[in-house]
Amino acid sequence: MIEFSNALAERMRLVTAPGTSSMRSKANALRAQGIEVVNFAAGELFFDASEGMRRHAVAAVNGRRNRYTPPLGMPELRERLAEHLSLRLGVRYAPDEVAVTCGAKQALFNTALILLNPGDEVLIPAPYWETFPTQIQLAGGVPVIVDTTRSGFRPRVEDLHAALTDRTRMIVLNTPNNPTGVVYDESLLRDIGEFARRHGLWIVFDECYGELVREGHVHHNVVSLCPELKAQTIVVNSFSKSHAVTGWRVGYAAGPRQVIGAMHNLQGHTTSNPSTLSQYAAHGVMEDGDPSFLHTVNTFLEDQARIAREIVGEVRSISVAPAEGAFYLYLRVASRLGGRYGGRPIETIDALAELLLGEAHSAVVPGSAFGDPCGLRISYAVETSALTQGLLKIRDVLNAID
Ligand SMILES: Cc1ncc(COP(=O)(O)O)c(C=O)c1O
Repeated sequence: MIEFSNALAERMRLVTAPGTSSMRSKANALRAQGIEVVNFAAGELFFDASEGMRRHAVAAVNGRRNRYTPPLGMPELRERLAEHLSLRLGVRYAPDEVAVTCGAKQALFNTALILLNPGDEVLIPAPYWETFPTQIQLAGGVPVIVDTTRSGFRPRVEDLHAALTDRTRMIVLNTPNNPTGVVYDESLLRDIGEFARRHGLWIVFDECYGELVREGHVHHNVVSLCPELKAQTIVVNSFSKSHAVTGWRVGYAAGPRQVIGAMHNLQGHTTSNPSTLSQYAAHGVMEDGDPSFLHTVNTFLEDQARIAREIVGEVRSISVAPAEGAFYLYLRVASRLGGRYGGRPIETIDALAELLLGEAHSAVVPGSAFGDPCGLRISYAVETSALTQGLLKIRDVLNAID
């Protein structure tokens, strides 16, 4: 019989369940007891998929699009994506510089496996989306975390510089940011771009939330600001968030053709092509355009963000990251750690998240999932009544900790 305490490969020590999934299962356990729980922990819109995506997916099913496509996707989709990127970024991308992937997640993992050698260091601004360091470690790389909590959740070049060594090979940039909701402005991206250029670093530029920005903010892409960086940047994007199709698994990477060529070989031996049906849907929606969906989503998120900021503004002595994009409100609650709720000690951010689940019946993601022992991420992309109800309870529980 296999002794499972040492049966798994050593690399699995690097992989723990995502913070979001453990909150989900705890929330489900409460629901099973008949308790209504607001799920602020999900990284997705609760909207139905965009009408265009649905229509083209149904057409693909009825058109019997059942077969493999080339590993990196249908040529017509790669062409459309290359055209779209060229127009949007003002820098020409050819179809063989674009790979269609099973969501942005695969684009990121492909990139880490292709570009990192054992011991290569990767700068990751924190708080970070937890998949970044895990994938980098699985690829043999070493995540080097650069704190941004003292600089408004925006990485400072001086801090990046201080983390640089002769093994630094890559930097990961994610804007609009998960978990903070911060959108990097033009001058910040130019400065970081210049830093990466000077030190010959790969840039992984994750702009999955690029179409979800709040009023008064604009999403910028580092390649469109500094076109010379195209040769050292992998742009990663996805249909998941912008079209509310997180389950359909279709995203893409764009970068130098040697890197994309390596993705062809890698993806050909791992997943093969992303779902053919999802590719047809993505292609169809790009052909037609579907701006009204995004407009509806952003208008909704604008109102939700306002409600969320107002309620959270009534919590004393915490700080809140500026909610500029994506659909996350990020709280820093250091003042509550070490405090007590009804005599019960709250020592850690995980204990606080558990308290909010038990007492406010609200599932949030603790900052331990983002490399921040004092943060809480709340998604405001939930139904409005649930948003208000859950946040009022969160406010009351946080204010009752002393
Ligand atoms: C920053 C970031 N990048 C990538 C992804 C993965 O997106 P996809 O569903 O396209 O794999 C997520 C999902 O939450 C994310 O937050």
